[in-house]
Amino acid sequence: MVNEALTPAALAQLDAASQALLQHWHGVLGGGLQTLHDKPEETSASAMCALWHLASGKRLSVQAASERPLLPLTTAQAQLLPELVGERLRGTPLAHLTQRQRFMGLELLAGPQALIPRRETELLGQAAAQLLAEAALGGHAVMALDVCTGSGNLALGIAAQVPGARVLAADLSHDAVELARQNVLALDLQERVEVREGDLLAPFDAAEFLGQIDVLTCNPPYISSPKIDTMPSEIAAHEPRLAFDGGPFGIRILQRLIREAPRFVRPGGWLAFEVGLGQGPAVAKRLTSAAGYGEMRPLTDSEGQIRALLARRL
Ligand SMILES: C[S@@+](CC[C@H](N)C(=O)[O-])C[C@H]1O[C@@H](n2cnc3c(N)ncnc32)[C@H](O)[C@@H]1O
Repeated sequence: MVNEALTPAALAQLDAASQALLQHWHGVLGGGLQTLHDKPEETSASAMCALWHLASGKRLSVQAASERPLLPLTTAQAQLLPELVGERLRGTPLAHLTQRQRFMGLELLAGPQALIPRRETELLGQAAAQLLAEAALGGHAVMALDVCTGSGNLALGIAAQVPGARVLAADLSHDAVELARQNVLALDLQERVEVREGDLLAPFDAAEFLGQIDVLTCNPPYISSPKIDTMPSEIAAHEPRLAFDGGPFGIRILQRLIREAPRFVRPGGWLAFEVGLGQGPAVAKRLTSAAGYGEMRPLTDSEGQIRALLARRL
């Protein structure tokens, strides 16, 4: 649990009674909150700010909530705090309460329909956006494809950073596709981002896409099936199993992706995907022996762990 003091900036516009109310509920929240290492943006203070804004009627990601001053609540709004704090302490993810999560600088809609985008996935998103931007320098109209798109976070993060790029996305889950489409509309990117429903690359298995993709991204399910039940209940009981379950060894989708991607990626283009903690070296080995790829680049996190792999299509 990360218990943290509220900042003077957060308190600046609150009168003494509001400050006392806020400090009270922050104390209650901080006393029991179990934050998870894969959501490092959440502390007791940032969560309290998000819940306060939510009580006031504003749905904000935890980062956006921490950046804005808190305003006094009406009596009716203040009466919502015990329930909101209680829900969070009972393990409902903060992003499910606020229905918002920030990813690559974008405020996205979040909910139980799809995985809550994780900050660690920005490593892949930023690298993929960079590769696509470099491809765009070549002068042709660039196209990215993001499979296992979930809420559409990678597709949208890439589209937002590479103006003019066409971005395709797909997911097997109908609910995830619905959420991704809502995100496309909310960000007004429907002219450039298209989301389809279906198995891995199948929704785009058509001549107009084969050999045409500049950057193909994927954050696949990569947890081994037996491990899923040992995950914290805030994850296992609230986020879709389909988002995690990578089969008996966690690499079922990864194996298919490595095998099937070369048909879609243009020569010189890139396959870019996330791997689970500890999977990097073995998956990198698979990539080097797979047909269709040349240069390979691992992306490591601050602890030196491989968290994504980039492979160039021959
Ligand atoms: C780890 S989540 C990633 C979601 C999102 N891209 C992100 O970065 O937060 C994996 C996603 O893969 C989807 N998925 C699982 N099996 C799939 C399949 N065979 N074809 C397409 N999508 C699949 C799940 O529904 C889930 O949305």
